[in-house]
Amino acid sequence: MELSAGILGIGSVLPEKVLTNSELEKMVETSDQWIRERTGIKERHVAGPGETTSTLSVKAARKALEMAGVTPQEVDLIICSTISPDMPLPSTAALIQRDLGARACCAFDLAAACSGFLFGITVAEQFIRNGKCKRVLVIGAELLSRYVDYKDRATCVIFGDGMAAAVLGPVAPPSGILASDLHTEGLYADHLYIPAGGTACPASPETIAGGGHYIKMRGNELFKVAVRNMEEVSRRVLEKAQICADQIDLFVPHQANQRITEAVRERLGVGREKVYSNIDRIGNTSSASIPICLDECVRSGRLRRGDLVLMAAFGAGVTWGAVLMRW
Ligand SMILES: CC(C)(COP(=O)(O)OP(=O)(O)OC[C@H]1O[C@@H](n2cnc3c(N)ncnc32)[C@H](O)[C@@H]1OP(=O)(O)O)[C@@H](O)C(=O)NCCC(=O)NCCS
Repeated sequence: MELSAGILGIGSVLPEKVLTNSELEKMVETSDQWIRERTGIKERHVAGPGETTSTLSVKAARKALEMAGVTPQEVDLIICSTISPDMPLPSTAALIQRDLGARACCAFDLAAACSGFLFGITVAEQFIRNGKCKRVLVIGAELLSRYVDYKDRATCVIFGDGMAAAVLGPVAPPSGILASDLHTEGLYADHLYIPAGGTACPASPETIAGGGHYIKMRGNELFKVAVRNMEEVSRRVLEKAQICADQIDLFVPHQANQRITEAVRERLGVGREKVYSNIDRIGNTSSASIPICLDECVRSGRLRRGDLVLMAAFGAGVTWGAVLMRW
């Protein structure tokens, strides 16, 4: 029998500190009303001193491993999707492996921004289906508050910090990943990027003074690309799996903007009651967004074994993708 790859356990962590819209009103020229109406966000979590992408990811990973009944020593592969690593070198996955007490298995970071978790579970699926790995830890972790300019109202109201981990392993069909479709279009690289701190523009007193290490975003352009691509890619995975939109039990879109979610939902013809949204509480946590939603759904009983869940995302690159899974 051909193997499928499914999620055996999931866990998430949000930093304790909450940053509300009214606090942001004191930092930039914005209003709670504008942020709520234009994005759906009321508050987001931000990490405190001493908290890093890896330290919080280890906590999320422990929860996922516990749910799956898997020990760190049994993990065969660790994939950490992040665009906000602890440091440029080594990978955040290596730091997570060390602090988790996992053995010297393969561990690497994956940079696909907000689509990263879907890229990560699709990579994990290949290792599981070809029999090379039995237990793969896929982490979506972002600490974007360290990369956001709290003087730039276009970005600081959107992003938040959060981490989530999933343990994937072989499952018997019809469970597991049914179809996935992933894309990157580098032509739009300048829609969302951090100009300085890499080889193109190494860190210098000038780059720091100019705010080159902060996220720059063309929100309007991204909005249109996001709606169009998330709809198209969702349709494609449904077609591949020969599933109709109304057969889906749960739709988990990347939490970028409530208006994007609503536009995609409407175009796909998915009922409002089937869409999960937590953007009001946590904002856009990039690659942690979808797995945090999954964790909340599983722990609240909204997502049960056998349910059909459609996930769709887009992000910097630009990247986009969708995965259809029977939980
Ligand atoms: C960023 C985003 C919320 C902006 O919403 P929008 O409705 O497109 O708003 P616009 O950019 O057209 O700006 C409208 C006005 O609001 C202003 N504005 C922008 N941010 C604001 C803020 N935080 N508070 C108050 N006013 C703001 C703009 O300056 C503009 O003013 P103007 O009309 O005087 O020029 C929206 O475009 C978006 O969510 N895009 C997708 C971004 C995204 O998902 N990024 C992450 C990818 S994973």
